Amino acid sequence: MKKLFALLALAGFAHVVSAADVVGNADAAKSKIAMCIGCHGIEGYKTAFPEVFQVPMIGGQSAKYIESALQAYRKGDRKHPSMRGIAGTLSDQDIADLAAYYASQK
Ligand code: HEC
Repeated sequence: MKKLFALLALAGFAHVVSAADVVGNADAAKSKIAMCIGCHGIEGYKTAFPEVFQVPMIGGQSAKYIESALQAYRKGDRKHPSMRGIAGTLSDQDIADLAAYYASQK
């Protein structure tokens, strides 16, 4: 009986984790965007490092687009050094949350 309980608990936990993996939560992203708004929050902003780059506006783009862009930076398919550094610190859940958040911005 004890064993069965442990199994059920494990199964329940696994279910929560896999559900959280795929669904982006815009509210959860609010604690994560602090590291993005420094560059992406300012209209017409250009970074000065490592070279002068025009920073694209990401608010209002589709969640799918933002998600795949961040995954491409993380994997190295997209090469921009500052975005690669940022994306390398993000989990799949972070990326889904951020995509949901920015997709809901105008
Ligand atoms: C140091 C400044 C900086 C920070 C911090 C930063 N970005 Fe970026 N981001 C850029 C620049 C510059 C580009 C354009 C890079 C390129 O040309 O590939 C970019 C591109 C992107 C793109 C692709 C946009 C497109 O139109 O293809 C996404 C999505 C993105 N950033 C999301 C984020 C998110 C989410 C965060 C926070 C976790 C973040 N960025 C933090 C500077 C920054």
